[in-house]
Amino acid sequence: MNVLGIETSCDETGVAVFSTEKGLIADVLHSQIDLHAMYGGVVPEIASRDHIRCLLPLVEQVLGEAGIEKPDAIAYTAGPGLVGALMVGSGMANGLGLAWNCPVVPVHHMEGHLLAPMLEESAPEYPFLALLVSGGHTMLIAVAGLGDYRVLGTTRDDAVGEAFDKSAKLLGLGYPGGPALAALAEDGDDTSVEFPRPMLNRAGFDFSFSGLKTAVMLEVRRVQEDGSYDSCRADIAASFQRAAVDTLVGRSLQAAAHEQLERIVVAGGVGANKLLRSEMAERFDGQVYYPRLAYCTDNGAMIAVAGALRLADAQSAAEIRAQARWALDTLSRPGESAAAR
Ligand code: KG4
Ligand code: ZN
Repeated sequence: MNVLGIETSCDETGVAVFSTEKGLIADVLHSQIDLHAMYGGVVPEIASRDHIRCLLPLVEQVLGEAGIEKPDAIAYTAGPGLVGALMVGSGMANGLGLAWNCPVVPVHHMEGHLLAPMLEESAPEYPFLALLVSGGHTMLIAVAGLGDYRVLGTTRDDAVGEAFDKSAKLLGLGYPGGPALAALAEDGDDTSVEFPRPMLNRAGFDFSFSGLKTAVMLEVRRVQEDGSYDSCRADIAASFQRAAVDTLVGRSLQAAAHEQLERIVVAGGVGANKLLRSEMAERFDGQVYYPRLAYCTDNGAMIAVAGALRLADAQSAAEIRAQARWALDTLSRPGESAAAR
């Protein structure tokens, strides 16, 4: 079976074909970063319009690369995300499903991230702990099997990707801030500012990043006032990154120990952070799994593989789903309706 995957939840148009026999056979991505950069963040209306412009040509391109005329099923991101952007992928998936007379599979965007390591040769076995870290989410999830998710902890305020982006803005870096801040941090001393490691000493597995962001703001203001801003920017970036990574790794180790899990999957855009990848591997006794860097941030391949694993949920193309909000732990195993759980 060839499954076409369509991702349009935010600012990347991703399309891919996953073969249940051969694995990923084609993958294309169009990033909208240049369109949003001048606004310092994603502008939803611009995102939707650009998905409309790019999606069909990308579908044609990916089918050409895969060497097929049409897929056997279409998977699309049905949420969570920007509702206008989701509508574009959802409308296209259902329209093509009708035209090609093939089933469609609505996919949860965060489940796509969580399953992205399944695209790698050394895919994790169940059960595992998943640390999902993106621009909109920070979650620790006990994964017993496909669709069997228990959320152990989540952020009480900002997502960690948001904290990276906002701190980057304070340091005069463009959007998206995460990669730019990480690059600046390479030239800095990460012990120069003692930023808080939020929540690490509290019970439970929740996160909070707004205090860390405020601490960065106060430090930036302080060095601006004493005239040392230019010479301190890299040190602040490095110290922020160290505090954020310490918090993510510390919380993950606590959760893995509590749940007696020997495998950790790190996924989502912030999973591309090199320090996070190396610290988790160094400090965790068990196995750590990541998608390759290109599949940490949004892409069509993770939606195609999630769709292939969820073929039992395929429906006829009739219902256009686009949900801005959709809790991950309301999902069920493939073929089981949420109500039957
Ligand atoms: O998963 P993703 O592409 O989109 C969402 O679903 O949100 O994640 C985007 C987030 C942004 O906040 C971006 O700044 C962050 O991931 N990010 C990084 C890095 N690469 C992307 N944060 C830290 N270090 C990186 N190398
Ligand atoms: Zn994402």
